[in-house]
Formats: sequence, structure tokens, C-alpha cells
Amino acid sequence: MKKSVKYRFFLGCCVLITVLFLVLLSWLCPDKVCSVPNWNYSTLRYPSWSKLSLKHVVADNLGRPLTFLSHPLIKERLKAVEHHDKLSFDDLIQSDFHFDIKGSDVIVFLHIQKTGGTSFGRHLVRDLDLEQPCQCRKGRKKCRCYRPDSDDKLWLFSRYSTGWKCGLHADWTELTNCVESALDQTEKGSAKRRYFYITLLREPVARFLSEFRHVQRGATWKTSRHLCSGRSPTVEELPQCFIGEDWRDVPLNEFMNCHSNLAINRQTRMLADLTLVGCYNMSAMPQRDRDMLMLASAKENLRRMAFFGLCEYQKMSQYLFESTFHLHFLQSFHQLNETHGSLARSEISEEDIRKIRELNHLDVQLYEYATNLLKTRFEFMKRVDKNFKENYKSLGKKKGHTEGVSFSVGLKES
Ligand SMILES: *[C@@H]1O[C@H](CO)[C@@H](O)[C@H](O)[C@H]1NC(C)=O
Ligand SMILES: *[C@@H]1O[C@H](CO)[C@@H](O)[C@H](O)[C@H]1NC(C)=O
Ligand SMILES: *[C@@H]1O[C@H](CO)[C@@H](O)[C@H](O)[C@H]1NC(C)=O
Repeated sequence: MKKSVKYRFFLGCCVLITVLFLVLLSWLCPDKVCSVPNWNYSTLRYPSWSKLSLKHVVADNLGRPLTFLSHPLIKERLKAVEHHDKLSFDDLIQSDFHFDIKGSDVIVFLHIQKTGGTSFGRHLVRDLDLEQPCQCRKGRKKCRCYRPDSDDKLWLFSRYSTGWKCGLHADWTELTNCVESALDQTEKGSAKRRYFYITLLREPVARFLSEFRHVQRGATWKTSRHLCSGRSPTVEELPQCFIGEDWRDVPLNEFMNCHSNLAINRQTRMLADLTLVGCYNMSAMPQRDRDMLMLASAKENLRRMAFFGLCEYQKMSQYLFESTFHLHFLQSFHQLNETHGSLARSEISEEDIRKIRELNHLDVQLYEYATNLLKTRFEFMKRVDKNFKENYKSLGKKKGHTEGVSFSVGLKES
């Protein structure tokens, strides 16, 4: 009898001491040591990339690197983060909430070169029907897009509002690692925010040719950082395609033959989580695995975006944007057929077009997926919109603005 009481007492003491110890530990231990810093956990070492199963990536990728998801520490962290992290279209329609411009919501525009993003980006800052429109000054490229009743909190992260804060034409990998800290820095204080990623895509052959023409005219985008896992690619990983200042007047076959030409499958690469494939290190895994992983990741990230538009379906894209965010454009997007891209197309042989499609096979598949997804989303919105016909017809004519304004606006890109 006495023995068992003693034993229980001893056991109780043990438990108490353990609990006290844990409490003390969590109290003493500074945040920096005990929590995983969210912006550089990608440098932690995890099982080799190639061991990942593809099925796993598609199923589990929450828009975050899968390898980290499986880590218990990060799993916990993700649970906490999820509520104010990126919001997808599915989240939007499942729960009954709206984009809250007055609250903590931020639209992040991922701008892929030659997809119509320049003109769309301008419309975002100049043509939305807002309680407090962005403040744009003549001669200035950037506008200030503050929340209503605020003069320092931003609701839009894009080239024409914040500028290239995360690098020139930052991709998914760069943005998701940077937007939060960039906004904290701009607003001079950290805040909890919800992010709504949006982007535009374009038919891959037209986009490729459009980029080709742009490079022929002297564009390089060579100041892009391509940050991934905390560093830029080395010269060996991403050799420059040209010698000298730029690649002016490059012939098409030379443009296509440069393996490190970032124009190739640009849309897939810029939407994929590159940490999954070892960033720009081509020897991290066989090419075939790299391709499959990147495509799967790009599709998943696209699906998880609140909105994406397609250059070839402007009206549908506009309708989806407006009904998703409950924000309205003051002008309607026009379908423009003739751009430099499509002009170039007629001068290019069937054989070359076939080669371009083959070269950009990932983008071709991504675009096919995106087209189906856009139509599915459109059909869904159409079904739940009781005034669909009315709303669709009056796109860009909200609030009694003159009918039939016919500027050449839209997702046009040269
Ligand atoms: C995160 O970055 C800091 C500063 O650059 C570095 O000291 C630390 O080791 C990094 N953490 C990990 C897990 O790599
Ligand atoms: C690229 O990956 C290979 C294989 O994993 C590795 O041996 C090599 O060090 C990596 N290169 C760089 C620059 O990290
Ligand atoms: C674009 O092409 C279609 C058919 O090819 C035509 O009906 C439409 O009017 C054209 N739009 C413009 C703005 O030229």
C-alpha cells in the first residue's frame, strides 16, 4: 500500500517536472531558433528530388514545395499559415467571401512576358471602378493603389503599382518567397494578409514568336534574378544565349537552338515551383522527370490561383475577373487579332511552327489545361450568376459610363 502511494507520488512529480520543463523551454526559446523561418526553409536539406513520386506532387502540393510539406515542423506552420495565405478560385467559390479591399487582401499579379500583361496591368491600376482609385500621375509609370481610407496600405502587387519589387518579371517561385517581405518593407510593418495570385496565359506559339520578335528588337530581360532556393542560377546552370549587349536580329533557328533560352516553355517554368526540380540545375534529375514535375506543378499552381485569363478569350477572362473579385473594369476588353505575334506567324513556315510547338511542348499542354479550366470556371460562374446575360452584355459599362467606348484596350500585347 505504502509503496504504491510512493510510486504514484514519484510518477506525478515526473510528469509535473516534464510539463514545467516544456513550458519553460517554449518560453525561453526565442522564436528565431524554435520556429522555421518561412523565407529560407527551402535551404534545408531533404530527400533527393528524384525520389519524389509524381502522384504525390499533384495530390499534395498546396502551392508550397511538397518536400517541406512532409516535414512535421512545416506541416504545423502551414496549418497556421493557410488561412491568410494564397486563396484559390475553389476556395473563393466554396466559401462565401469576397475580395476585401478594405481588409487584408492583396492581389498579386504574376506577369509572364508577352501574354498581354502590360496592357492588363495598366487596366488594373487605371480602369477599375473603385471607391478610391489608384493615384496615377501623368508621366509616371507607377500608380499608388491604397486601400480605401488608407494612405499606406496596398491592395495590389504589380508592376504598375509596386513596381518590380521581387525582381523583373518575377516568377511563382520568386513571388511566393518575396511578396510578403516586400510588402512589409513597403508598408513599414508586418501584417497578416491574404494573397490572391492572378496571371495571364497565351497560346504558346504566338507567345513564343512574340517574344522572339521582341528579342530581335533588343529586349533581353537580363536583369531578371531567377532566384530559387535563395540564390540566382550560376553561369553554368543558365548560360547566356548571346555574346555582347543583346541578341538583336537573331534568326529564328538560332533563337530556337539555344537550350538555355528562357523563352522556351516560359509559361510552365514561370508558374512551376522550381524548388521541386532542383531549380536551374539540370543535373539534379533526368530531363523527362524535370519536365513532368514542372508541368504538374505549373498546372497545380494555376488551378490554385484566384484568377487567370487567356489572351485568346478576353471577354470570358474579363467576366471571370469581375465576378471573382467583384471589381469592375470601366472599359471592356477587345479581342484584337493582329499583333506582332500573329503577323510573324504568317511569315513563318509550317515546318518552323511545328518545331516551335514541339519545343514548347510543356506550354502547349499547360495551355490546353488552362483553356479547359477557364471554360469550366466560366460555366460555373455563368450558372450561379442569376443575371448572367445582363452582366455579360454590360461588361465594362458599369455605373452609367458611356456605352461603346471603343479604345483599343484589352489583353493585347505586341
Ligand atoms: C536562413 O538564413 C539565415 C540568414 O541568411 C541563415 O543564418 C540561416 O542559417 C538560414 N536558415 C537555414 C535553415 O538555412
Ligand atoms: C547540381 O546537381 C548535381 C546533382 O545533384 C550536384 O552534384 C551539383 O553540385 C549541383 N550543382 C550546383 C551548382 O549546385
Ligand atoms: C478578329 O477576327 C474575327 C474572326 O477572325 C473577326 O470576327 C473579328 O471582327 C476580329 N476582331 C478585330 C478586332 O479585328
